Amino acid sequence: MLDSQNDLDDFIRGLPKAELHMHIEGSLEPELMFRLAARNGVKLPYRSVEEVKAAYDFDSLQSFLDLYYMAAGVLIRREDFAALTEAYFDRLAEDGGVYAEIFFDPQTHTARGVSMETALGGVLDGIAAAEQRHGIKSKVIICCLRHLGEAEGLRMLSEAEPFLDRIVGLGLDSSERDFPPADFKRLFTAARAQGLRLVAHAGEEGPAAFVRDALDVLAVERVDHGIRAIDDPELIERLTKNGTTLTVCPLSNVRLRTVKALHEHPLRRLFEAGVKVTINSDDPAYFGGYLHENYRATAKALDLTKAELAEIAANSFRGAFLPDEEKEAWVARIEDYARRHQG
Ligand code: ADE
Ligand code: ZN
Repeated sequence: MLDSQNDLDDFIRGLPKAELHMHIEGSLEPELMFRLAARNGVKLPYRSVEEVKAAYDFDSLQSFLDLYYMAAGVLIRREDFAALTEAYFDRLAEDGGVYAEIFFDPQTHTARGVSMETALGGVLDGIAAAEQRHGIKSKVIICCLRHLGEAEGLRMLSEAEPFLDRIVGLGLDSSERDFPPADFKRLFTAARAQGLRLVAHAGEEGPAAFVRDALDVLAVERVDHGIRAIDDPELIERLTKNGTTLTVCPLSNVRLRTVKALHEHPLRRLFEAGVKVTINSDDPAYFGGYLHENYRATAKALDLTKAELAEIAANSFRGAFLPDEEKEAWVARIEDYARRHQG
């Protein structure tokens, strides 16, 4: 590898980073998938790790989601969810991640008879183990599967009620095009009344109008993906003016063909317009890389400088659901790190 590439790799690894957009079920590596399938007597439609990896050739969000929901079926016991979560945080620690807000889809599990207590309990066990092992703090955002509709989302929220002190927010994910944010107004209003912070996937495959609706109708504080905002100059101006964070997932966007190639990714144009973009991995086991690889590949394709990467990492803390003093302390550490490693 060239020295300059080594240098960029080291710079990114050492840069304190928060991950704000990662679905824990999307960190299920094929090896663990097969191990849990064998352990739990779940039949997979693939004979080997190689065969499942060969199926990671997606042509749309839905083509990915079909496989992703099927694979999550191997998660049965509380220990399975804990093992999944611990493995993610081991990777995050290697990548220089220091904080995460992870997405968790309760309905993927409760719909097949795994209780909220088992699934969420296992994720929380994994979080506690990771904090012990790596000193990484994290929070959980439960996501409503939009293809199941608002009534099911409200049911999920009431099932989550006993656990709300362990959950920081509510998100909205799954198939976007036919399920606009505006259909979930009552759910988001109810979640806000319960003290949850609000985010939603919008403008991933859906149009810029869905980003507007997520802000106007659902009153979200951050937008997940949000890249279609690039089609709407007024919306870009609004995001910039309000300091709205976009949790962008560059490798995911290329793998799901919402962006043709990484060098054409709108992240640079949004960043230059002053939007608070962040870099995240979405479903790292499926899209070819964890947090570090998303930073590295994006920096290379979009020619991001170290100063720009540091600004993006700072955005990941500015947009986090952390107390202001903690955010400011992380941003100060990043600025200090960037000063020491420029050149
Ligand atoms: N669930 C997991 N990954 C997702 C994505 N990229 N978009 C919508 N829902 C998801
Ligand atoms: Zn996502």
